[in-house]
Amino acid sequence: MAEADVKVLFMPSGRRGLFPRGTPLLDAARNLGVDIDSVCGGRGLCGRCQISCVTGSFAKHQIESDVDHLSPFCATEVKFVERKGPLKEGRRLSCHTTLLDDAVIDVPAESQVHRQIVRKEMESRDIRLDPATRLYYVQIGEPTLEDPRGELQLLIEALENDWGVTGLTLAHSQLHQIQAALTREDRGITVAVYQECEITAVWPGLFEQPRGIAIDVGSTTVAAHLCDLKTGEVLASAGVMNPQIRYGEDLMSRVSYVMMHPEGAELLTLAIREAINGLLVELSEQASGDINDILEIALVANPIMHHILLGINPVNLGTAPFALTTSDPVDARAIEVGLIAHPEARLYCLPCIAGHVGADAAGVILAEAPHRGEGMTLVVDVGTNAEIVLANQERLLVCSSPTGPAFEGAQISSGQRATMGAIERVRIDRDTLEPRFKSIGSDLWSNEAGFLEAMSGHGVTGICGSGIIEVVAEMYLAGVITPEGVVDGGLADRSARIRQEGRTWSYVLHHAETADESDVVITQNDVRQIQLAKAALYAGIKLLMDEMGTSSVDRIRLAGAFGSHISVSHAMVLGLIPDCDLEHVTSAGNAAGAGARMALLDRNARIEIADTIRTAERIETAVAPDFQRHFVGAMALPHQSDPFPHLFSQVEPPKAKAVTSDDTLKRRRRTRPNR
Ligand code: FES
Repeated sequence: MAEADVKVLFMPSGRRGLFPRGTPLLDAARNLGVDIDSVCGGRGLCGRCQISCVTGSFAKHQIESDVDHLSPFCATEVKFVERKGPLKEGRRLSCHTTLLDDAVIDVPAESQVHRQIVRKEMESRDIRLDPATRLYYVQIGEPTLEDPRGELQLLIEALENDWGVTGLTLAHSQLHQIQAALTREDRGITVAVYQECEITAVWPGLFEQPRGIAIDVGSTTVAAHLCDLKTGEVLASAGVMNPQIRYGEDLMSRVSYVMMHPEGAELLTLAIREAINGLLVELSEQASGDINDILEIALVANPIMHHILLGINPVNLGTAPFALTTSDPVDARAIEVGLIAHPEARLYCLPCIAGHVGADAAGVILAEAPHRGEGMTLVVDVGTNAEIVLANQERLLVCSSPTGPAFEGAQISSGQRATMGAIERVRIDRDTLEPRFKSIGSDLWSNEAGFLEAMSGHGVTGICGSGIIEVVAEMYLAGVITPEGVVDGGLADRSARIRQEGRTWSYVLHHAETADESDVVITQNDVRQIQLAKAALYAGIKLLMDEMGTSSVDRIRLAGAFGSHISVSHAMVLGLIPDCDLEHVTSAGNAAGAGARMALLDRNARIEIADTIRTAERIETAVAPDFQRHFVGAMALPHQSDPFPHLFSQVEPPKAKAVTSDDTLKRRRRTRPNR
């Protein structure tokens, strides 16, 4: 140790070393490999390199640390404060603070390049910040008669010298921007560099608002989040209905539209691109930014949406063998697919897994990483097509199952989307068969005082997906429907809510209160539609469990909007998902969207998901011989033969129906052989 050397310890990394007195802290940090951000290259302009001194005695490291052990606040820092406002208490710019004596330095999370972004959702993976596009600020020398090289060559040289990034090229569309960007006296210029190989954007002076958008294109809705690429923060979020609905409610009807109309594919492509462009404008306005600040777009979608957005005709995905045009990630300029952001903004689409399992499922796998958790994890993303992932640390199996739109309220007589007035929670008294329910628009149960007043503005208009799951499960638990799913007309004597409709029976959940309302009724056909949907989902899950050689799962994650809203126990009563400790069945929120955000903010996540998908095993439900057998078994509630011990240790099963002499008589009549 040279006499004049001082000790420095950086927290939280714990890296430490000895440096000559007077060493700038940023240099010491870099020398030790401490993760500290900088855009301006140590010029005191960007404020990204902030640190604070931790005072006290650190016996283990033999360091007495004090703020006086750093150089005093300097003129550059004063200027920075004048321009940008005061620094947080105790903060310094590490590029303009030197070591005078031993010190312990804290590098706050926001000053780290590769910081972790903690997601709000419980049990979710954090996101590591390492975007594919990075900003660099440089000042380039004046051209001289002696040096005939162009401004671009001087820029590239400055980037090499200041930042060590070599071999850069410039996107042609940005060439004319260089002159305009170099009009400042200090010839300071910020560039965006994509994947450390191409300069994609150029700004005069210090530019600090790199933006990215993560988009989840669903067949019903499109959701987007505008993120700050330097902090990972979500600055604004917005959603819009997928305008393709006018060409078909579900995916297959849109494919049929394309088959029947030669211009159909183009119309669908234009519709979705317009919707996304509208979101880009809306989000930029919400965040008071410019659409040109958007440098990256990461996107997840099911295979049909994915293909249509990219301008690929989706008809091959409508029939076996459901051939994808590409299953690899797509990396393109956003403008090539008609998306209006910065002219060189990049679009990254996550890989598709199979003809029915798209980039949205890849997003779910990326966000949930079920193949990294302990034990056996089942992830289910319910939409009109359910995507199912079953994984442990050895294998990752994927399939999709055609559940249809019943869980979204379609094909249900009183069904509707989850909007104002829709019934979303239901309980049925097992003795009286009287229901109580909650509707979107009020927190009150329907049997509580004030409910009718609270709903008077919009009324009770129908029932949405989560309500359907609950009402059918409650009907089963109350004995209104049999395990085979038949509405028991024999109960009409006990309750006026059991109503005959032709040859079958229905359950009246809500009597219309006004002339504008209709009764909300659960018909025999509604129950049947739910049985078909849940049996398809369960059969898909069983195929994967067979393939994995397991009869149980340790953990179930329900992804998507539907998964966030349904009652886990009611879903299990219906037999939508297999038996599992209810405490280990949780919502994963919009996991596909979270995967898009991870891919947007962390380029390593792109490599990770491409590698993972390469090893995923696809099971094609459409041709699996056992699908039909599992489907038939899963039609019963909760299942014809699979036991549900965890569920029924917490939920009282329906009472076994007492067999009356009438029933015996009827059965005898039914079973008497024909003579
Ligand atoms: S590195 Fe930019 S202010 Fe210190």
